[in-house]
Amino acid sequence: TRPRPLEGRRVLVTSGPTHEPIDPVRYLANRSSGRQGHAIAEAAAQAGAAVTLISGPVALPDPPGVAVVRVETAREMMAAVEAALPAEIAVFAAAVADWRPETEATDKKIKKDGSGPAPLALAENPDILSTIAHRSEGRPGLVVGFAAETDSVLEHARAKIARKGCDLIVANDVSAEGAVMGGAENAVHLIGRDGSVESWPRAAKEEVARRLVARIAELHPAVGPD
Ligand code: C5P
Repeated sequence: TRPRPLEGRRVLVTSGPTHEPIDPVRYLANRSSGRQGHAIAEAAAQAGAAVTLISGPVALPDPPGVAVVRVETAREMMAAVEAALPAEIAVFAAAVADWRPETEATDKKIKKDGSGPAPLALAENPDILSTIAHRSEGRPGLVVGFAAETDSVLEHARAKIARKGCDLIVANDVSAEGAVMGGAENAVHLIGRDGSVESWPRAAKEEVARRLVARIAELHPAVGPD
């Protein structure tokens, strides 16, 4: 039998992109496939945790043994995360859109009228990770964030861990050469609050997920009788 180091733990994972509607047929999105977040949810379930996965629109099947909540927008993801708490551990792997169209034309497609650029004003979305990590009550004991960067990966990730208030950042290089976004493999650096960095070799996202879950279990051991 497999070791179940997260037995008795509630784990919340966000995964995938968000879609931010412009009108009934268009949206803003990004290239996230959800593969890394879904693999983390599955690995946490295999480690014995009770896992809730809050997923944006992805083409992946629901991971076995995981409670999946499907959402579309960042604001829906925020609400679903709030509803899924409390949890001892939260992993924010979703590539949440930073902005959404300020006004969604709900019933009619926006027409081009030849009068100039598209009438697209953007509003900032809530930062889910930062909101949860800065909670004074009901904050998960371990909050893990991701940092997808195209340059100065470590520098940006170090700044992010402080700004977002999380305990650990998983930083990866998503510049086009690495084909990480949407791809099958990932090369990550783990950055701690003390600025420590651990760089892992490039591996399948499933393998990165298992290693990350093992590390999380070390940082936040199972609820046991002893
Ligand atoms: O600021 P940036 O988007 O690079 O931060 C990435 C981290 O923050 C990821 O863990 C992501 O899931 C989380 N995030 C979030 N809500 C947002 C933006 C990012 O939870 N609106």
